[in-house]
Amino acid sequence: MTEQKRQEIFDQAAQILKINDRGTYTVPTHGLYPFQWNWDSCLTAIGQSYVDEHRAWVEVDTLFAHQWEDGMVPHIVFHQLDDGYFPGPEVWGTNRSVPTSGITQPPVAGFAVKRLYDMAKDKNLARARARELLPRIDRWHEWFYSNRDPANEHLVALIHPWESGRDNSIDWDAAFERVPTEGVAPYVRRDTQHADPAHRPTKAQYDRYIWLVEHFRSLDWNNSVLHDASPFQIVDPGFNAILIRSCADLAELAAELGEPDIAKRNQQRAADGLAALDKLWSDSLGQYVCFDRAACSLIDSASVGGLLPILVALPEHRGDALVARLEKLGESCRYLVPSHDPLDGKYDAKRYWRGPVWLIINYMITDGLRKSGYNDMALRIENASLELINTGGFAEYYDPTTGEPCGGASFTWTAAMVMEFIRRAA
Ligand code: DGY
Repeated sequence: MTEQKRQEIFDQAAQILKINDRGTYTVPTHGLYPFQWNWDSCLTAIGQSYVDEHRAWVEVDTLFAHQWEDGMVPHIVFHQLDDGYFPGPEVWGTNRSVPTSGITQPPVAGFAVKRLYDMAKDKNLARARARELLPRIDRWHEWFYSNRDPANEHLVALIHPWESGRDNSIDWDAAFERVPTEGVAPYVRRDTQHADPAHRPTKAQYDRYIWLVEHFRSLDWNNSVLHDASPFQIVDPGFNAILIRSCADLAELAAELGEPDIAKRNQQRAADGLAALDKLWSDSLGQYVCFDRAACSLIDSASVGGLLPILVALPEHRGDALVARLEKLGESCRYLVPSHDPLDGKYDAKRYWRGPVWLIINYMITDGLRKSGYNDMALRIENASLELINTGGFAEYYDPTTGEPCGGASFTWTAAMVMEFIRRAA
């Protein structure tokens, strides 16, 4: 791709960030997602920092202004009313002055804030803003290990598929069968009015998403009981890897900013989490897999959640094995990295997290690959990502075989990641 083309794509990406900017937060895309989403915002801030560092810090600050008293950072902040989205604040019923959802999302904040700090040209601003965020992110990390790791195994569980970000992954299919659907209040989906229903989760999945929300609401969103009360408790290697990486990054940042206690706590969490992660290794698949905590068994399912641990400081043989796995996946699709193995009978190239390529995942995987020196594979994934943009625009996700754009369009975090692909490598 020529330099001129890359610059054009970069400028288009910056424009998407601008269009979706609501002043103090950015919507993932107009219509389909009209509020602030947790990990979308943190990753978006990285893109924003190329054009306006102050605005990038505001994005993360706004999210953390809605952190719960117990330390949780919710997955959605409903800054303004919009009945184009379901489930809205009345379904969540969390009773907050600015309504939020009652569950969380992958904790990328530690990773993102370290990246913002490292990239910052205005170091005084970065120091001041990062110093304020450090204790808040530390509390969120503490919240995870206190509320989602009751047996002190150093691995945290999700209690709702939406927490993983990989909403309808094949990984959850068996465990999700245990979630009932009876008694769910009648509802009308809005997502299928904004995006092709064939690209979205099914009705049976939505019934269960909503059953869980209603169940947690009936328990007053009391996080000290929700984990044990949930029929869905999944230890996801990708989610845990993100948490471990964020702990490690926060520890480094805290050490640099003269906060030794925060540094020490997070270093310990990262070390313990990394050691525990190995329990999720599958020799037969050659990658990490999820653990169904309620059923007490590993889940034999080859999703991208099991490749994300490349983000953390893995032993070399594990890193090599994950790169071999990526090579193998590259034999069955044109565009890396599919969110599920195309050779699996349940793979669906266009349905959300059951196959499509997501650029935020590609970004995190390539960050990990580069950090561990796997530069050839990183470059291959970065090039595939830019090719997808060039042919399909800034979509929410893409078919790994045809490159067809799927889901929402003019997507914020896709744009933000593209800015990193173009400038990070420069
Ligand atoms: C959705 O509405 O599809 C979201 O992924 C839930 O956060």
